[in-house]
This record gives sequence, structure tokens and C-alpha cells, in this order.
Amino acid sequence: MARKKIALIGGGMIGGTLAHLAALKELGDIVIFDIAEGLPQGKALDLAQSGPVEGFNARLSGANSYEAIAGADVCIVTAGVPRKPGMSRDDLLGINLKVMASVGAGIKQYAPNAFVICITNPLDVMVWALQKYCGLPPEKVVGMAGVLDSARFRHFLAEEFNVSVQDVTAFVLGGHGDTMVPLIRYSAVAGIPVPDLIKMGWSSQEKIDKIVQRTRDGGAEIVSLLKTGSAYYAPATSAIEMAESYLKDKKRLLPCAAHLTGQYGVKDTYVGVPVVIGANGVERIAEIALNDEDKAGFKKSVDAVHGLMAAAKTIAPDLA
Ligand code: APR
Repeated sequence: MARKKIALIGGGMIGGTLAHLAALKELGDIVIFDIAEGLPQGKALDLAQSGPVEGFNARLSGANSYEAIAGADVCIVTAGVPRKPGMSRDDLLGINLKVMASVGAGIKQYAPNAFVICITNPLDVMVWALQKYCGLPPEKVVGMAGVLDSARFRHFLAEEFNVSVQDVTAFVLGGHGDTMVPLIRYSAVAGIPVPDLIKMGWSSQEKIDKIVQRTRDGGAEIVSLLKTGSAYYAPATSAIEMAESYLKDKKRLLPCAAHLTGQYGVKDTYVGVPVVIGANGVERIAEIALNDEDKAGFKKSVDAVHGLMAAAKTIAPDLA
């Protein structure tokens, strides 16, 4: 069987980490594409030279032209710019929408059969625009946010309960970051739901509420510590888990920004929901029953995404 091909569009901090993880896991041959000349080539060469020591079998290359991604099985998109001090939300939207237009055209021309994972922020609106620009079926285009948000939540819960992260599962819905909706009753340690653990005296509601808030602010906490960048290890690992589920037809049930066509009462919008990822891309969207509080949280989240979509349509009328 020929090796799979993974195209990483954007070779910055997350892109480089994605390349490293994909090589270590031998997911396939890896092409890093970036507009910065020399950057993807340099990272690819450096990583390839770690191959003899690690013993992985993967070809790594870097490119500044889209032809290099031809025939990719998976494209992971991190191309874009981060929000800098003084930049308004609409400035950032405008710049990254232009990036999505060029990335979408590149994927449409050279990798029309790929499974596409978008990481560029603001995530939910970027993945929506990317799907429109590349024209791939919506089930082949997803956004990475929920796996990262739930990994952050699981890490904090494992610390709080002093148990292995392996035994902690967490469930989140909604948009990335501020408006994330954690479903405490579906979050558990080895099957014991968090509300039961509170009753057992393992934690308190106040402590769990603080953990929820810390999870929502997870990205900002890291930005304020790093000062010159944002998180990249956990975002890259989260996207690799999604790519692996597709490439190996694992059918993992993962929270992803997926295209809704009426589920949860929402249409033509990308927002975080639990989905099954297998060889056909998003194979199923799990529509769970929400209580009133969760419904209100989810609505707030969807409203925020709709606000950004409306702004995006004004900036880029071709998306309307
Ligand atoms: N085409 C391809 N690459 C581009 C383009 C473009 N039009 N515009 C910018 N890039 C590249 C930059 O040259 C840079 O190498 O995208 C890369 C982005 O890398 P970083 O700035 O290091 O950002 P990173 O930390 O990897 O995060 C990428 O993911 O989580 C989100 O908010 C984050 O939107 C950001 C993205």
C-alpha cells in the first residue's frame, strides 16, 4: 500500500509540530506549504534529519507552491496571522479570510479528495469560509477546536481529582474558547460522572466552575505566558488525533467544528458538536438531548459564530 500524503498548509509553530507528530506516528509522507520562502523547506529538512535517530519512515518536504500538495489525503490548515495588539476583530477576519480564499483555491485545484482540517482562528468562521472556498463536500471539511478544549478540560480535571488523564473523559459543545459549552454531566472519571464525584466529596461545584472558566480561557492563559505566540503543542496533537481517525477509519467520536444542516436547530453553520470521523470524513453527527441551561449556552455560542459570519459576509461578499 502506497504511503498516505499529508499536506500541512502553514508551516509556523503549529505546522512544524504537526509535521513532527505526523512523522513520528508514520501517518504518511509530509509536505509543508507556506508562503514564507525557505521556512517550510528548512523545517522539513530539520525534521527529516531527525528521522535516522527516531527511525521513522516518512518523506518530508517543504514548498512555496500549491502543486506540491497534489493528491494529498489530508490537508491541515494553520495558514494565517494571529491577532496582534491594536488589530480589531474585523482586521483579523479580513486578513485571514483572504488567506482562506487562497488556501481554498489551492485545495480545490490540487487536493479535491482530501480530508481537510482547519485550525486557523477565529476557527468556526474560518472553517465555514474554507469549505465554501474549496468547494469540497462539507463532510470532508472540519475544524479543530473541541478536541483541544476537551483536552484542556481533561488535564485540569485529572489534576483536580489526582487521577490519570487516561481515565478522564470530557464533553464540550459549541464554539472555540469563550463560548465553549462544557457538559459536566457527560464528563467523567472512568465512567463516574463529575456531578457524582462532587457528591462523593472529590471536588466542589465552585472548583469545577473555576476549571470550566480556566478551560474557556485556556488559549489566552498560554498567550499571556508565552508573550510572543500562542499554544502549539496541544493544538497540533488534537488535529493529529482527528487526521488519524480519518486515515485509519477509526470512527472516533470527537468534538469538532462540523457543518450543521439542521442538527441542534442550526443550519449552514460550522460549530462544535460530537462527530464520528472515519474513512468518509464526518460520518455521523451525534445530536444529544440538551437541558435548558446547555441549550442557552449553545445558543449563545451559535449566536457568536453567526455574528462573525455576518461580519465575514460584509468583508467578503462572495461568501454571502
Ligand atoms: N498561505 C500559506 N501560509 C500562510 C499564508 C498564506 N496565505 N499566510 C500566512 N501563512 C503562514 C505564515 O507564514 C506562518 O508561517 O502561516 C503560518 C502561521 O504560523 P504561526 O504564525 O506560527 O501561527 P501558529 O501558532 O502556527 O497558529 C496558526 O492556528 O490556532 C490558530 O490562532 C492560531 O490562526 C492561528 C493558526
